[in-house]
Amino acid sequence: MQIINLNEAILNGRTSSGLIYVNSDPQVRPGRKDYILGDLMYKGKVVQFRSWDDDVLEILRAHGKGIYRADTLGQEYKSFSYINIRSIDLYVDNSVSEEDFQDCIPQEELESKWTEALEQLQARGLSDACRKLIDDVVNDPELEGRFFTEGAAIKHHDNLIGGLWNHSSKMLRILIALLDNNKELLPSVDLMTFSVVAHDIGKVFEYDALSMSEHWYANHRVRGIEFLVKYRERIIDSYSEQFYRQVQAVIAGHHGEYGDRPTTVAAVIVHYIDSLESQATELLREQEAAMESKFFSTGFGYLESICPDDLD
Ligand SMILES: [Fe+2]
Ligand SMILES: [Fe+2]
Repeated sequence: MQIINLNEAILNGRTSSGLIYVNSDPQVRPGRKDYILGDLMYKGKVVQFRSWDDDVLEILRAHGKGIYRADTLGQEYKSFSYINIRSIDLYVDNSVSEEDFQDCIPQEELESKWTEALEQLQARGLSDACRKLIDDVVNDPELEGRFFTEGAAIKHHDNLIGGLWNHSSKMLRILIALLDNNKELLPSVDLMTFSVVAHDIGKVFEYDALSMSEHWYANHRVRGIEFLVKYRERIIDSYSEQFYRQVQAVIAGHHGEYGDRPTTVAAVIVHYIDSLESQATELLREQEAAMESKFFSTGFGYLESICPDDLD
């Protein structure tokens, strides 16, 4: 049985049959008639589904996240497109698995880019002790290797296997450019590098294989700070309490105006690096998913796609 192509299935009036992946627990919404609403995912694309059918509502409410066989209809309401699920059944076969719906960045590619970025930071003064600390933290058994596999988001930038590692690695490369542009940052290379590595590490607990975890509501900033407590003595012994508190402040404040107000220069700089990286990645993803050259971006409304240089 084929996986439904979400790009086509969402077109207004299009009917499709095949496999779908509901990547988080759907919610029941009251209305003139109760309906169920949630997300379908296929290879980095996430679209909303809704259903007013009683059987669909019962099956999805009972079984939640997972793979189903479904009949769908693409619909549009006030220029918002979604997929209406008209019938659904549990998928009991096992020839298709959740990984078949998830996009993935090759691990070798991530590994070499990560190592290369850390070596470039070592050339700019990153200490051996900090490099060792980073290796120990990202390989901590409590993370079960998921720093390297979890997504950086569920719906937006880098929502693919390896996305968190990729996002952190891209941020390290922006940090390298900042260190080269602003020499006054160089004496803080350990703090800045470690803070970038740790800023989203709590996503390992907020997410679970590209969907929300059971305890998602204690967000990744809270969970990241909690996780690092086990390294407190080691960090204070190798550096100082000030260093440890500065790292905590970066994790707490790295969402800038969208979270707790940043209280340190390091937190604001990591926030800028984070925004530049995630927003540029998200914009390019929206452009790629767009059907036309002009597309709707959540941040700025309609944008014309970037034009390729066409030299003869
Ligand atoms: Fe974050
Ligand atoms: Fe981030």
